[in-house]
Amino acid sequence: MKKNFSNKEIVLGVTGSIAAYKACELASRLVELGAKVTPALTKSATELVGAASFEGITGRRAVTAMFEPLQNPEVEHIAVAQRADLFLIAPATANFIAKAAHGLADDWLSTTLLATKAPVLFAPAMNTNMYEHPATRENILTLKIRGCTFVGPDAGRLACGTVGPGRLIDPMAILEASAPLLRNQPDLKGKRIVMTSGGTQEPVDPVRYIGNRSSGKMGRAIAMEALARGANVTVIAGHSEAPLPYGALVIPVSTASEMAETAVGLAQECDVFIAAAAVADYRVDAPADTKRKKTGKSLTLTLVENPDVLGLVGAVRQGGQVLAGFAAETDDLIKNAKAKLEKKKLDLIVANEVHSPESGFGTDTTNAAILDRSGHVDKLPLLSKDELAERLLDRVVGLLNRS
Ligand code: CTP
Repeated sequence: MKKNFSNKEIVLGVTGSIAAYKACELASRLVELGAKVTPALTKSATELVGAASFEGITGRRAVTAMFEPLQNPEVEHIAVAQRADLFLIAPATANFIAKAAHGLADDWLSTTLLATKAPVLFAPAMNTNMYEHPATRENILTLKIRGCTFVGPDAGRLACGTVGPGRLIDPMAILEASAPLLRNQPDLKGKRIVMTSGGTQEPVDPVRYIGNRSSGKMGRAIAMEALARGANVTVIAGHSEAPLPYGALVIPVSTASEMAETAVGLAQECDVFIAAAAVADYRVDAPADTKRKKTGKSLTLTLVENPDVLGLVGAVRQGGQVLAGFAAETDDLIKNAKAKLEKKKLDLIVANEVHSPESGFGTDTTNAAILDRSGHVDKLPLLSKDELAERLLDRVVGLLNRS
């Protein structure tokens, strides 16, 4: 995702909502990702939040008035409109959305917005009734039809005391929604990716389970990268410490059987299926309905084999689909991965070393190789999970373009 933002020119338009202060965090994250941010505050926004905060965060002059830029050609509105890679209006008030929908240009931000050909993303924040008002709904629809993108709002308790939609969505969700707009050619645009992620939990009784050390970090990295490339992503998610992206449709599951049932249903309709979950190979036969009590004796549990989620998807794979999985191995990495690639009828498998301090469950880096059906083994250097996700999706795109 970082790649999408690096050196990109972003105009961060802040309008007069109570949530304006949250745009400081957004600006900070954009800068962290390597973007060059020009903050522009409307007059009402300056009543709520200081331009100096944005200047400190972005290292650039914050534009607050229409004619002030005449002294500073760097922020002259046509120049900024032309060099922008993205216009991000966060928070976007009902008033600003209405002005944008009708092409009004009565301050620096609305004038510059009218002069740009860059993609535009609005993150609305307003009172629930204002958001639900037919005028606002119509304005949003007009802008969407014109090609603008919207993210949020979130629902919850608003500053005015109302409970409902209208809260500015989390900055992370705004970044996720921005990412595909910053790629010139989002190479997974329109593609449907279904994936598994996290670890399954197999109940022993209502309070205990058998689980594994999966952190969900690899699955999160793949989902984020797929979204940044424009894909439509569904994650069948087992237990995960890492948060899943806002932009993905997340279907929570607990056991391997639930994961298998969900995956087989959804996999028929997708272009790409990626199995990144750590699925328990066994479950407890007949888990207890009530909490087990100590008996003073040793406890023997009978385990029965779980369905192979990826194997089942492989068995019903459709023509043109791409299937990828992981092989978590402690030894004979390549040999074991090759056998799994064939057995599960995969196009690609990531052979993943899981027993070193730098590679395995919970780590941020990984030692891996990507194998394909032709027998080619692409041994990768130590990579972050984000980088590995990028390499894997490069290969997926290559296969989709070939078929
Ligand atoms: N997998 C799955 N369902 C299972 C087991 C594994 O979908 N019941 C998927 C994993 O998500 C991974 C791939 O199959 O993409 C290989 O998983 P791994 O745990 O490495 O291998 P197993 O098939 O379980 O074989 P073994 O445990 O014997 O190494």
